[in-house]
Amino acid sequence: MAREFRSVGVVGLGTMGAGIVEVFARNGIDVLAVEISDAALERGRSTLTGSTDRAVAKGKLSPEDRDALQSRISFAVGLDALHDVDLVVEAVPEKLELKRQIFAELDRICKPTAILATNTSSLSVTEISVATHRPNQVIGIHFFNPAPVMKLVEIIRTVVTAPEVVADVEALCTRLGKVDVTISDRAGFIANALLFGYLNHAVSMYEAKYATREDIDAAMKLGCGLPMGPLALMDLIGVDTAYEILDTMYRRGGRDRRHAPVPLIKQMVTAGLLGRKSGRGFYTYEKPGSPVVVPDDQTPNAAESAAADGARGIATVGVVGSGTMAIGIIEVFAKAGYEVVSVTRGGEKSARVCEAVKKSLNKGVVRGKVTEADRDAALGRVTWSTNLDHLADVDMVVEAVVEELTVKQALFASLDEICKPGVVLATTTSSLPVIECAMSTHRPADVVGLHFFNPAQVMPLVEIVRTIRTSPEALATARAVVAALGKTGVVCGDRSGFVVNALLFPYLNDAVKMLEASYATADDIDHAMKLGCGYPMGPFDLLDVVGLDVSLAIQRELYLELREPGFAPAPLLEHLVTAGYLGRKVGRGFRDYTDR
Ligand SMILES: NC(=O)c1ccc[n+]([C@@H]2O[C@H](COP(=O)([O-])OP(=O)(O)OC[C@H]3O[C@@H](n4cnc5c(N)ncnc54)[C@H](O)[C@@H]3O)[C@@H](O)[C@H]2O)c1
Repeated sequence: MAREFRSVGVVGLGTMGAGIVEVFARNGIDVLAVEISDAALERGRSTLTGSTDRAVAKGKLSPEDRDALQSRISFAVGLDALHDVDLVVEAVPEKLELKRQIFAELDRICKPTAILATNTSSLSVTEISVATHRPNQVIGIHFFNPAPVMKLVEIIRTVVTAPEVVADVEALCTRLGKVDVTISDRAGFIANALLFGYLNHAVSMYEAKYATREDIDAAMKLGCGLPMGPLALMDLIGVDTAYEILDTMYRRGGRDRRHAPVPLIKQMVTAGLLGRKSGRGFYTYEKPGSPVVVPDDQTPNAAESAAADGARGIATVGVVGSGTMAIGIIEVFAKAGYEVVSVTRGGEKSARVCEAVKKSLNKGVVRGKVTEADRDAALGRVTWSTNLDHLADVDMVVEAVVEELTVKQALFASLDEICKPGVVLATTTSSLPVIECAMSTHRPADVVGLHFFNPAQVMPLVEIVRTIRTSPEALATARAVVAALGKTGVVCGDRSGFVVNALLFPYLNDAVKMLEASYATADDIDHAMKLGCGYPMGPFDLLDVVGLDVSLAIQRELYLELREPGFAPAPLLEHLVTAGYLGRKVGRGFRDYTDR
């Protein structure tokens, strides 16, 4: 029979501990919440009250339930109060020596049957466990932030954790309404091992001024559907905690440079910019502990920048190409009121593109998103041509031809001869250097990248790529056009993968490496990212949708350009592509779709 947990202790009421206390108390379990000092206890208590009051205000908790929840919690300073609890969850700062010290003391204080658990994100549970005389009763219970919201719990079993302790903790997690995955003791477990390389990379982009904090975060939210951007997430996690996790993962996880904390992180910790908890991190908050971001000296001022940088007026746009992206882009421009000249390489292709645009607009009509009049007006704005010379009078050209550099270079050379001066020339490339296109013309200052996402009609994000030769006017024009399309534009430098793919694909590749190492199953990894981090899809779901061949090609490009050893494509990904398992489009990738 599963062990009855009547009372539990939680040590440390910081970002995680306060949330963990709430989880237990919400589920009818008495909690003894312990801190190091009266002041820290007060802070923890007010975090808890703030969280439960917010839940009441949002209608997610009744005032009676809040009162009952609060009556189950008692508070104490010092570990001695924990002598009679059935389980302790430790959530003190991510420092091995501190945790070992606390476990040695807990071992002395707690009754012999008590289970001692750590909420560590990256430290070795085994090393913590051997500070006690009961390592078989020590386990990792890794909650996710915010603990009351996130469904996942990673249960970390060391080589000495008793099987019944694992079973009891699994049953407890179910009682708490959580989904657990049980795994062995490896740095970062599942979710953090996949998350922190990505977070660190995002900070390095920000540190290098590759893109602004707002743009990096918007890119990942809108391009991948993540619940928050990486820099906002760093602030939620706590910059100091993130530093410790990265540092431990670097040392424990094979000294992967991608986990070596970016210098800026250490500087922020030293300066006390710890994120939400201190009121300032990558962003500035209303007050310490508040989730409300307030403007600061880095907040972009849209009105000021638009006035200052001289965007050119655009009325007519040429779209070159006949593929999926070109079709979507023609529709997006036409619907936004631009005159569009579509150029393809032949009458047949033109007819097909025209049909596809009509079909897509008709779908909009059926779904009630476009009126018949708007559809007709949009179609009326498009001229269908097979001759680049028809671009002589346009104000802007968007190129969406095949992803081959020589083809794009030849096209840009032709556009340079045909188009009038001052025209903004844009490439939609997702992996080639924009500067290569720019230098095929005599007007590199007018060339930008406009990286739309598929389907262009739906996806709200466009990455605007500025090369080292792009002029401020061309950039401002691109920004203004993207805004007029109703999309969010994020501006970034001309590096492989821009923001989204450079941050997304290494993470997907890492998931494949984790699967290949047999650390966890594809289902557990997908679960961990969906339920622990709120991702809309797990990495294997996503790889199968994107296509393994496409993913491999992008990962290879990133590896070739950045020469980062950790970006080397996972051998398993290469083998699956060689075997023809390319994902959903062929019925099999990481999963088999043939009978679904
Ligand atoms: N922040 C996250 O997103 C997150 C997510 C999952 C797990 N974790 C892990 O949870 C643990 C806690 O992280 P955090 O972000 O909540 O840290 P935090 O800095 O926000 O809170 C730590 C708390 O521990 C208290 N403390 C320090 N020494 C103590 C002692 N001797 N006795 C009692 N209390 C003591 C501090 O006063 C502080 O309130 C870490 O191991 C971390 O890796 C963090």
